[in-house]
Formats: sequence, C-alpha cells, structure tokens
Amino acid sequence: MALPLPGTPVIIDIGSAYVKLGFAGEPTPRFVFPCIVGTEKYRAVMVDVGGQRNYYVGNDAMKMRGVLKVKYPIQRGAIMDWEAYYEILNYIFYTLLRIENLSNYPIIYAEHPFVPKETKEFIARVLFETHKINSLIMLQSPFLSLFSVGLTTGLVIESGDGLTWIVPIVNGVIQHQAIQKLNLAGIDVNHNLRTLMMREGINIESSAAEEILKEIKEKNCYFVLDPNKPPSSQGSYSFPMPDGSVKQIPSNVLHEAPEVMFQPGMLGYNIMNIPQAIIYCLQMMDKAYWNDLLSHIVLSGGNLSYSGFEERLKQELGALLPQLGPIPKPQVQQTPISSQETKLEAIKVREKTKDTCPECGELVDLSDGKESCPNCGASMKLPQVSIDIGKSVDKKSKKCPHCNKKIIDSTSVFCPFCGKGIADNFTSVKEFTDVSDSDEIIKFFIPDNLQYSIFNGSAILGSLPSFQNLFVTYDEFQGNPNALYREISDVFKL
Ligand SMILES: Nc1ncnc2c1ncn2[C@@H]1O[C@H](COP(=O)(O)OP(=O)(O)OP(=O)(O)O)[C@@H](O)[C@H]1O
Ligand SMILES: [Mg+2]
Repeated sequence: MALPLPGTPVIIDIGSAYVKLGFAGEPTPRFVFPCIVGTEKYRAVMVDVGGQRNYYVGNDAMKMRGVLKVKYPIQRGAIMDWEAYYEILNYIFYTLLRIENLSNYPIIYAEHPFVPKETKEFIARVLFETHKINSLIMLQSPFLSLFSVGLTTGLVIESGDGLTWIVPIVNGVIQHQAIQKLNLAGIDVNHNLRTLMMREGINIESSAAEEILKEIKEKNCYFVLDPNKPPSSQGSYSFPMPDGSVKQIPSNVLHEAPEVMFQPGMLGYNIMNIPQAIIYCLQMMDKAYWNDLLSHIVLSGGNLSYSGFEERLKQELGALLPQLGPIPKPQVQQTPISSQETKLEAIKVREKTKDTCPECGELVDLSDGKESCPNCGASMKLPQVSIDIGKSVDKKSKKCPHCNKKIIDSTSVFCPFCGKGIADNFTSVKEFTDVSDSDEIIKFFIPDNLQYSIFNGSAILGSLPSFQNLFVTYDEFQGNPNALYREISDVFKL
C-alpha cells in the first residue's frame, strides 16, 4: 500500500494483546498484530538461524509458537519486558512501515493514563534517538476514544485485554482525580472461559489453546440481562478443533464467561465491578458534572464488544444510581472537536446485525428487520444510540479566577483545570433542584469498532491542521522533556 503524503501522522497503539498501527485520516489501522515476541526454544530446529538469536514478532511468532519461547512485552498495560518491547518497535518501523525518511512523519503514540514519567520519557527517547523520528505526541487513550465519537466531554469506559479504565473527561480535560483502573479485562474473560469449560469436562489440548479460547470468546460469548434467570433455550455450540474433533460447548458457558466483568469474585478477585467503579468515579467528581458524564458514556476497547454489554451495564448502573442521590441538570456544553475540519462523517454508530434476546438469551438475526425474538416473542428493539456532535458551540471563553487558565465552555460552573467554582453568580450545587430521571440519563456512545476506537480518535485528531502544532520536536524534548505533557485541550483553542 502506498505511503500517505509526508507530514501525515503515524498512529501507534501498542496494547497488551494487539498492536494497532496506521496513519491519520485513514478509517482503520493498516496493521493489527498480536503483541508477542518469540525467540527460538531449540536452536537446532530453526533453519534460518545464523549466529544471532532471531526474534519473531506478531503473527510470525503466533504461527511458530510451538517452537518458540513466547514473551508478552505488555502486561496489564505496563511494559514488562523492554527487550521484547524494542523488538515490537523494530518490527513496526523496519518490517511494517519501512519509511525511508521517518523524520517526515510525526508520530501519535497512544498511552494509558498514569504512565510513569520516566517510562514516558524513555519511550520518547527511544523513538527520537533509535528510530530517528522528528516529532511526537503521546496522548492518553481515553481522550482518543472520546474523540472517536466526536465528543469532548464524557465518561469513557475503556476495556482492552489487560485493563479496564473509567475515565471522566470534561471539555477535553481528563479528570485524573476520579479515574478508576481495574485489573479486569479480556484476559480475565479468557481465564474464566477456560475454567468454565474445564468444569464442563472440556479440555483444549493444543499449543494453540489460548488462541482457540480467544476465538470461541470473541465469536460466541455474550451478556444476558439477568444472570440469575438463565436463558430458557439451553443448547450447545459446536466448535471444530485443529485436530478435526468437535467440542460441544454448552450455551451457559458462553454467557457466564464474560460475567466476570460484573462479578469479579468468580475468579476470586476482591475488586469493584464496572458499574461500581463508575459510581465511585462519579463520587470523586463534582456532582455538577454527573449528568453530562452519565449521558455521554463512551465504550471503547475490544473487551466491550460482546453483544448485550451496554444493555446489561445500563441496567446495573441504573440500579446503583440512587446511591448518588439527586443528579443536577447538565452543565457542560459539548465542544465539537473542530467545526469544518473533522472527518466525523467517517464515524458510524455500530449497527447490530444480531443480538441476544434480553428474555431468553437466543441469538437473533436482525438483518431482516426482525423486531421480536422468534423463540419467545420478546421485543428486540434496540435502545437509541446517537452521536451528539451537532450541538451549538459557545465561542465565548473566560479565564478561571483561581488558576487563570482559559475555559472554553462559558456555561461551565467549575473550572475543569482546578475544579473551583467559576460562575459569576456561583452557588453551591446543593441548590440545584432539577433532578432528571436516572433511567433517562444514561446514554451510550458506541464507536463503529470498539477495538479500533483509540486508533480512530487519533486518525481524526491527527488529520486536523490545528493539531499539527501540538507535536513535540526532538529539539524541544531535549530542551525540556516536560514538553511531552502538552495540554491536548489546546487543540480547541487554535
Ligand atoms: N468481538 C469481540 N468480543 C469479545 N472480546 C473481543 C472481541 N474482539 C476482541 N476482543 C478482546 O478484546 C481484547 C483486545 O482488545 P484491545 O485490542 O482493545 O486490547 P489491548 O489494547 O491489546 O489491551 P490493553 O489496552 O488492555 O493493553 C482481547 O481480550 C480480545 O480477545
Ligand atoms: Mg488498548
């Protein structure tokens, strides 16, 4: 595939399970490969091994994993094996991108919140000094997920392979004090699936066991609305194994496996589940923002792709909302990323072609316009999901009297930077009397492809002309490594 024009940012999202790699302005990553690195276990069997130890990365490592010692450089979002991480970068730059003059291509590097300062600077140094890039921006992934659906304020729930994050963002500013991080994600669903299958007497004996489990999970697992009322249609699902045998997997295993996201105790974890973590996050936020956050919940990350997830979350979260008490009316006005420049038409709300019946758990094909379940007759109407990018923008801005930072949203009653009251006639939020019905408040914004939403957010931002000024050059970085901590909300001011 031809390289895009010089100046087009390269997007790198290195996850615990998959690396997503591509260019700004493109609808999907050009390369998606498993984040694994293998070295030979038995050197004698490797025909192409010379004097040096060879590395196999991504799909190459996956194919040869039987004879390789496989390493996972990123675990639970943190770099655990630097040597393997360097090999991932080498593979990205020398095998996949093969850009002759990399200094012409700025890099957008997606990272999790709370990456230690030393790690962040070290990664930047490797990119500048080893790979000779010329400019870089390191962006926290929840921003990018939020931008992927055209919002600047919202509550991002990001769940990949290793971690789940609950991240409130107001006017493009991440509210770090309220972020919740759960060591609970796709890898735990794999683990739960394996345990449940073993309980049913199904053992997968293959060097590809992990891959087979992942395939079963990604293609067939789903959420039911009420796990205490098991679906009436208990069938089983046939899965062909590499040796030609066929395993029968009971359908209850398929909906119980992801259940660990709502019941971490299934794996013995004593941690909050997703709805509890959302409530905890909101309690760390000023209540003036609760309504805006609850009505702009953005889902992101491969591990939230299961059918039935948003319906289940809505139900469980709705049941917990009374713990918050009265929820004041919305305060924040959404600031579209940029008026004329965005490629928002590229964003599509996911259209479901099949879904799980909320009553009996039957997987129903919706492609022919069915509105009810053929098995039990329950309504299959989908909740309204809409992308809210058309609200008017108030161009007037004001400065916070406390921290002096510029606040774009003139209707805001709190400064998103220091959290202090800024309204001229500022009154305590306790005086708000308008309380919305909690059931109507919760609204989801679901990207077309959850696993690529971080990439897609980067692809939109990276194609804005105003964004180009935010990249940090090597000279700037050398002069002041803190330049890496640039305010992304600056993009709205340009
Ligand atoms: N259709 C699907 N249904 C369920 N799970 C899926 C689906 N597609 C991908 N996944 C799971 O999502 C996870 C990968 O998602 P993603 O690429 O967002 O994570 P990551 O970026 O590698 O991890 P992290 O961000 O936690 O470091 C894996 O556990 C994968 O099995
Ligand atoms: Mg990720």
